[in-house]
Amino acid sequence: MESKLFCWILLSLLILSCFVSQTNEKMQGQTLVYLYKSRLKQNFGVDTSLFKVIDHVNEANVHPQVGLKEEDRIERLPGQLLANFSQYGGYVTVHKSAGRALYYYFVEAHHSKNPLPLLLWLNGGPGCSSLAGALLELGPFRVHSDGKTLYTNKFSWNYAANVLFLESPAGVGFSYSNTTSDYDKSGDSRTAADNYVFLVNWLERFSEYKDRDFYISGESYAGHYVPQLAHTTLYHNKKVNKTIINLKGIIIGNAVINDETDEQGMVDYFGSHAIISDQDVYQIHKYCDFSPNATSQSRECEASYGALEENIIDINVYNIYAPMCFSSDVTTRPKKASILEFDPCSINYMYVYLNRPDVQEALHANVTKLTHDWELCGDTIQVWRDSPSTIIPLLKEFMSNGIRVWIFSGDIDGRVPVTSTKYSINKMKLPVKTAWHPWFLNKEVGGYTQVYEGDLTFATVREAGHQVPSYQPARALSLIKHFLEGKPLH
Ligand SMILES: *[C@@H]1O[C@H](CO)[C@@H](O)[C@H](O)[C@H]1NC(C)=O
Ligand SMILES: *[C@@H]1O[C@H](CO)[C@@H](O)[C@H](O)[C@H]1NC(C)=O
Ligand SMILES: *[C@@H]1O[C@H](CO)[C@@H](O)[C@H](O)[C@H]1NC(C)=O
Ligand SMILES: *[C@@H]1O[C@H](CO)[C@@H](O)[C@H](O)[C@H]1NC(C)=O
Ligand SMILES: *[C@@H]1O[C@H](CO)[C@@H](O)[C@H](O)[C@H]1NC(C)=O
Repeated sequence: MESKLFCWILLSLLILSCFVSQTNEKMQGQTLVYLYKSRLKQNFGVDTSLFKVIDHVNEANVHPQVGLKEEDRIERLPGQLLANFSQYGGYVTVHKSAGRALYYYFVEAHHSKNPLPLLLWLNGGPGCSSLAGALLELGPFRVHSDGKTLYTNKFSWNYAANVLFLESPAGVGFSYSNTTSDYDKSGDSRTAADNYVFLVNWLERFSEYKDRDFYISGESYAGHYVPQLAHTTLYHNKKVNKTIINLKGIIIGNAVINDETDEQGMVDYFGSHAIISDQDVYQIHKYCDFSPNATSQSRECEASYGALEENIIDINVYNIYAPMCFSSDVTTRPKKASILEFDPCSINYMYVYLNRPDVQEALHANVTKLTHDWELCGDTIQVWRDSPSTIIPLLKEFMSNGIRVWIFSGDIDGRVPVTSTKYSINKMKLPVKTAWHPWFLNKEVGGYTQVYEGDLTFATVREAGHQVPSYQPARALSLIKHFLEGKPLH
């Protein structure tokens, strides 16, 4: 905990920075805080539990799912236009005796000749809801400024896959535990264990997907969730020498990968993008100890971080060029909306929408009447027990098991910027297979890519912030199609 003190200081201010423009206190939790792991009381950097699999797949937790799929079918969401695909939403119990249940929202793919793969999407935090992924990023609908009606995302990822959004761990969004002390036992390993039990049960409920090619995707702190779940999946397949879940690949964006290089890359990004002074960059590198074993930080380090905070406080660090939201109100009539122009107040519209009783009823959510609101990044979880300082060994494990690994990065995110991701990948010391080159969409450069031996692809998405599909929906769809088809970007 000590070792992350400087981060704690930095990030607690980052969160504040998102609040300055907010008038309504209730809205504070809805701000763009997709990543605030250091705010939580935790054992970051403690590697003792590194990749230990918690196994609570047993008869008590794996249950018959007959008939539950049809109960989960969502006829139509309030304010929704007609759709040509099926939607489902509901709970899967992942721990019976504790009463832990995870909420999912599932959109089947638009019609296609061949069966499309199954893609799981996870947002990060820890503590942020994957329904943000659905309603702000890559799902088929976005919420209008009235907080009541929806419009269509023509770049929805369900043109490429059947997409499953999972709110995890328990305590996030609509997911809950009846044993509230569970919330203080959250961490990477239990999240992976619960998510795995979720998948086993969900595939029982939707048995037609059991043998389907399966991919796991996510952003930000899901840079931990995705590999930890993939690792758990491989562990169980190996344990019984059978493919229980047909995992083919993982893809993570603006992802937390390796704390030390992530932090260094963030500082360098702020410096190279004229947000902090060269002097502060120099001071931070000289006086701050980013190594996983650092126990405390010097006064000089804290002072430089203080300067950094002051310089980033008034911008959206998750997209350094984006406008801010200055109103927490919804409008009586929907404002004209465009998928191509992300409205910085969209988070507020989504918050209002998801807290409406008719919407929750349609989604089959909040069936136990939770005592808190649905929040984008809530504070139900206050403690995070385990978070290894690096997940690089897991990426290597996947590569040696023939699992496709893609890492992408929106290049105007300041929180887990492209520099961080490049430094983290460089740590892996992989030989380059295909040299760095631009990739194109509609004749424009969509970003840059480099492929490494062992089947790891790195791709940037030009002019995208932390939430890549929010800011560059067409490029994001192209990226995910290439990933799922195993085709290099060019
Ligand atoms: C649904 O499919 C029909 C027939 O292919 C098409 O005409 C219609 O535009 C589609 N509707 C939507 C909302 O995509
Ligand atoms: C949690 O408790 C409520 C109320 O007793 C119950 O209806 C619900 O099924 C429980 N959830 C789980 C996952 O056991
Ligand atoms: C695993 O299963 C395969 C066939 O599916 C078999 O050839 C192999 O010997 C098995 N390995 C072990 C350790 O049982
Ligand atoms: C951190 O500490 C562990 C255990 O004490 C040690 O094995 C490791 O080499 C240290 N790492 C660094 C970067 O000093
Ligand atoms: C669940 O419903 C209750 C009662 O309507 C409401 O007060 C609460 O905010 C809701 N919680 C969530 C997470 O939606």
